[in-house]
Amino acid sequence: MSSVPFIDLKAQYARIKPQIAEAIQEVLDDGRYILGPAVTRFEEELAAYCGVRHAISCSSGTDAIFIPLLAYGVGPGDAVFVPSFTFTASAEVILLAGASPVFVDVEAHSFTIDLTDLERKISETRAEGRLKPKAIIAVDLFGLPADWNGLNKLAEREALHLISDAAQSFGGVYHNRRVGSLAPVSGTSFFPAKPLGGYGDGGAIMTDDDNLAELLKSIRVHGQGADRYEVARIGINGRLDSIQAAILSVKLSIFDEELDARERISRVYDAALGDVVTVPKRVDGLQSAWAQYTIKTDGRAALQEKLAAAGIPTMIYYPKPMHLQAPYAPYGGGEGSLPVSETICDEVMSLPMHPYLSDDDAKRIAAEVREALG
Ligand SMILES: Cc1ncc(COP(=O)(O)O)c(C=O)c1O
Repeated sequence: MSSVPFIDLKAQYARIKPQIAEAIQEVLDDGRYILGPAVTRFEEELAAYCGVRHAISCSSGTDAIFIPLLAYGVGPGDAVFVPSFTFTASAEVILLAGASPVFVDVEAHSFTIDLTDLERKISETRAEGRLKPKAIIAVDLFGLPADWNGLNKLAEREALHLISDAAQSFGGVYHNRRVGSLAPVSGTSFFPAKPLGGYGDGGAIMTDDDNLAELLKSIRVHGQGADRYEVARIGINGRLDSIQAAILSVKLSIFDEELDARERISRVYDAALGDVVTVPKRVDGLQSAWAQYTIKTDGRAALQEKLAAAGIPTMIYYPKPMHLQAPYAPYGGGEGSLPVSETICDEVMSLPMHPYLSDDDAKRIAAEVREALG
């Protein structure tokens, strides 16, 4: 078969080219290039979309979880619980804040944080007494919301801050509530390859808490106080460019259609592959944003090679859990300590997934997978 792209941002651009040109031109004519009116408008659209009081745009998905840590005063001596099977950014921000990550295992089927292991790690950390449990960062990996009811209850009982790393799940739904409204504070990413992606870096933080929102906004702009040159606290340069906001507003207007298309492709894959590989878990009442369609299989290397030869790109998200990566090793329990995360790193493989993939191409990809598996 002719080769297919892993994601196809060009097909999307072709669809919205005139609207994008107009949106960018408007910002250029306006002249307010950072946190301008296009940013305010996009933040209002985001808040309405997620059903939250505040959406605070920022410079990346990384800053969207770093800024809340700073706002909660997380720092040296604090433990922050985070799944090991994730992208480095989920854990990196903990060390950047001066705190220590405590790595938690994930569920083999949903790829999201294992609440039983989380409870165990919190108890162990309290018993050990070296670090003070302060926060949880839970990740909606590959787009599927984690167990947010369970997480909110646990965080409340343990008096821990709960941060949703929703970098991959913007657009997802959890029992009739949108991602962005599932935790006291949620951060998402607008990296180009994300379900809602810009043409550069960007992110946003969602919350219903008015006081926290003020703090987040201040930290986003160097800890700005009542006026621009009053420094109320230490912050960062975490602002979003107006051009990115204008682009994202256009993309948000077609986002629901794109989510439907991703869901449709996931169903094609499920139907064609469910009996030969482990397909992604579906949970009643939960809707994935399908940032990735990730299967599990033995013999991954041979499969990946055969698919590559057939012009089908695949990705391994992720080949190594965080607790075994060099900078995090001192904080983890080493090999064998988080068995599920370690095992699935050897089994997972993501197939092409984007809203402009045709059903026919998805069927042909699935057929190649079946053939390669013999
Ligand atoms: C789970 C997760 N968290 C955080 C991030 C960071 O987002 P960004 O690249 O926008 O900083 C990513 C990006 O890949 C991610 O996948």
